[in-house]
Amino acid sequence: MKIVKSVAEMSEIARRLKREGKTVGFVPTMGYLHEGHLALMERARKENDVAVASIFVNPLQFGPNEDYETYPRDFERDKRLAEGAGIGYLFHPDVKEMYPRELSVTVKVVKRTDVLCGRSRPGHFDGVAVVLLKLFSIIQPTRAYFGMKDAQQAAIVGALIEDLNLPVELVPVETVREKDGLAKSSRNVRLTPEEREEAPHLYRSLLLGKSLVEKGEKDPEKIAGAIKDYLTENVSGEIDYVEVLAYPELVPLPEIRGRVILAVAVKFSNARLIDNIVLETG
Ligand code: PAJ
Repeated sequence: MKIVKSVAEMSEIARRLKREGKTVGFVPTMGYLHEGHLALMERARKENDVAVASIFVNPLQFGPNEDYETYPRDFERDKRLAEGAGIGYLFHPDVKEMYPRELSVTVKVVKRTDVLCGRSRPGHFDGVAVVLLKLFSIIQPTRAYFGMKDAQQAAIVGALIEDLNLPVELVPVETVREKDGLAKSSRNVRLTPEEREEAPHLYRSLLLGKSLVEKGEKDPEKIAGAIKDYLTENVSGEIDYVEVLAYPELVPLPEIRGRVILAVAVKFSNARLIDNIVLETG
């Protein structure tokens, strides 16, 4: 695996791969890799001639009171894991390399963003869109892999690709979970032992919602209400949101129909956890 730190070198490698007619699978990450990231990397490796991953903690997507400075980082460990997952090129630029000067042009996400995590993180998805547009331009991937753990991000990346005709195929990948159902996340290390015990209730609350849908419940508010009641009873953290929306449009539904996302976010003392499931209904 080759580690690439400069944009010019990464672009040159991408151009060479294209000339050679190779397909490129790309996995953008912010590092502190876990099995969720590795599942994306293994898929990228399997489905393409070459797999490229990036590790870049993107300052643009963190709000002023968010955890940019303290976001967990461990590049030596990440290097070993990425190599083991079959990554051929690991792009790891520093901030000055990606943002050498203040941007004169930016990207504004105007739909799919005023709900779920977008509501409490203004500007977050604009920052995600800018960095992905840059990374796609540098790496020119055939396919880009995104986890459904961040379903809103996947929905917005889908819109970014379609609306701006980016020549890349979005591949969504199922959420990887711990044995007890907790979605793997770089921020799970920040849970206290007691919170870690409670954390699987996020997924259980979603399964409860899913079972109501399967029993024929059609009222999104009733489903959200049942999920909220379950969380209130079972977790000490503060419920940030419980939402039931159309996916990937992320708009409210008068009744359960088509593709639907059930999504929750809970704030614990030192970490905000999110989880969701997407259901195909009649
Ligand atoms: P990061 O949080 O590092 O996540 C990188 C990718 O891993 C995302 O597509 C995310 O959805 C996926 N992922 C995280 N946990 C997962 C899990 N448990 N199962 C499956 N996939 C999982 O998301 C970002 O970084 C950034 O916003 C980025 C896209 C890199 C732009 O800066």
